[in-house]
Amino acid sequence: MSRLDSAIRRLQAQRQLLDQAALDIGSMEGVVLELGLGNGRTYDHLRSILPNRDIYVFEREVQAHPDCIPDDAHLFLGDVIEGLNRAQKTLSAKAILVHADLGTGDPQESHDFAKNKLSAAIIPLLAAGAHVLCDQQLLLPGATKLPLPKGMDADRYHAYRMDDPKNVLKPVLKAA
Ligand SMILES: C[S@@+](CC[C@H](N)C(=O)[O-])C[C@H]1O[C@@H](n2cnc3c(N)ncnc32)[C@H](O)[C@@H]1O
Repeated sequence: MSRLDSAIRRLQAQRQLLDQAALDIGSMEGVVLELGLGNGRTYDHLRSILPNRDIYVFEREVQAHPDCIPDDAHLFLGDVIEGLNRAQKTLSAKAILVHADLGTGDPQESHDFAKNKLSAAIIPLLAAGAHVLCDQQLLLPGATKLPLPKGMDADRYHAYRMDDPKNVLKPVLKAA
C-alpha cells in the first residue's frame, strides 16, 4: 500500500467514525464538543452532518481555514482543560458527542495528558448516552468501548459510549 493509499484509508475511517457517531446519537438531546480545531477539517465535517446541533470548539490557537472558524459564542479559546472547566458553567446543555484530536506529536505526553487530565475534564460534561471519540485512550469509568471502523488502526482512535454518567458517579459519592 502506498503512503497515499494509507492516508486516504485513514481519512475515510475517520469520516466513517464521525458519521457512525452522528447516526448513533440520533435525536438525543445535547451539544457537540470538538477538542482541537487544527485546520478545521473534522469540525467542518461535523457541522455538515449535524447541521442542527450547537458545536463548541476548544482550541489554544486558531489557525484553521477561514471558512472553518466557529463564531465567538462557540469557541473556547485557550487551554482545553481550562476551557472544559469553564464550559461546565456556560454550556446550554450537556455533550452528546465529543470528538478530541489533540495529539501533540509526543506519544507518551499525549497518552498521559489524555489519561490524567483530559478524561476527568470531559466526564462532568457528558450526557447519558454520549459518544466520545478520541485520538488517545481515555479513562472513562463505566463507559463502553465501541468497535472501530474496519481498516482503522487500533491506536489511531478510541470510541466510547457513556451509558449513564449518573450511575457511574453514585458508588464514588457513597464511598466518600
Ligand atoms: C491534530 S490538530 C486537530 C486536527 C483536526 N481534527 C482537523 O481535522 O483539522 C490538534 C489541534 O489541537 C490543538 N491543541 C493541542 N493541545 C491543546 C491544548 N492543550 N489546549 C487547546 N488546544 C490544543 C492544537 O493547537 C491543534 O490545533
